[in-house]
Amino acid sequence: MEKNELKPQITSIIDSSHEPVEKMQQICDLLQKNLPTYNWVGFYMAHETEPTLHLWCQAGEPTDHTVIPFGKGICGQVAVSNENFVVDDVNAQDNYIACSIHVKSEVVIPLFKNGKNIGQIDIDSNTVAAFDESDERFLEWVNEQVATIL
Ligand code: SME
Repeated sequence: MEKNELKPQITSIIDSSHEPVEKMQQICDLLQKNLPTYNWVGFYMAHETEPTLHLWCQAGEPTDHTVIPFGKGICGQVAVSNENFVVDDVNAQDNYIACSIHVKSEVVIPLFKNGKNIGQIDIDSNTVAAFDESDERFLEWVNEQVATIL
């Protein structure tokens, strides 16, 4: 399935009557099940006072990395840079936290609420260079939808 075809289903999830974290879980499941290169999908959200990211929900293999300090790994770098991070080859990254030996590429897109970076969506792929600008635009849109329920 093409990712943009999932937008109506994401809108339905956002408009449903579930709790925000449950909606975010459903979005993780939807993306991971329907997009073959999205092998792991999760939302890491910033702690209210501490400089740490916390895994709120995920689809794919369980990870030990449920808390990530700001600055550490691809996720931690996005927490401080406020910018998208597309990694074509994770093995070429020095500041990288491996969650699975199968992962080859990754994209992390910050999630903004009222202009503040409050978390991020993180996608891992078992395919090298799986993500391009169309994924960035799509995931920015997903995060904009999620921001409306937080
Ligand atoms: N690879 C990430 C850690 C999170 S896992 O991909 C689930 C990173 O380097 O920050």
